Amino acid sequence: ERRMKIIWTFTLLMIPGKNLNSHSISVRGYSGGGVIITCRYDREYTDNAKYFCRGEWSTCSELIKTDKKSKWVDSGRFSLYVNTTAAVFTVTIRDLSKQDSDTYYCGVEKLGPDPHTEVNLNVVTGE
Ligand SMILES: *[C@@H]1O[C@H](CO)[C@@H](O)[C@H](O)[C@H]1NC(C)=O
Repeated sequence: ERRMKIIWTFTLLMIPGKNLNSHSISVRGYSGGGVIITCRYDREYTDNAKYFCRGEWSTCSELIKTDKKSKWVDSGRFSLYVNTTAAVFTVTIRDLSKQDSDTYYCGVEKLGPDPHTEVNLNVVTGE
């Protein structure tokens, strides 16, 4: 029985695919409208800068970043607000167009690999 348990554990560890520690969310927006994206972060990173970037993780290009808390920060069509009570940060994007459909990431800047959440944005045309 113990052996079965060990085999089972190894099987779980070997399941291919995404890292179990990284999460992904899907968001739909409408052309001309806006979206609100809420990303969680670990409380140990309360003081670290939070950012939102576009593209695949390895080449993700930064759109907005702040180390301010409880204060809206704006950059073009993007705004970011860090709510330390809830340990979340909110990103809004205004004036959406279909070209905004892409993979984005919410990230926390720290030494070593940055914790991140994948955000899949799909902008559709409202009829
Ligand atoms: C921050 O999060 C808390 C807990 O969810 C909530 O009560 C509060 O309204 C939020 N603050 C803002 C400014 O959104």
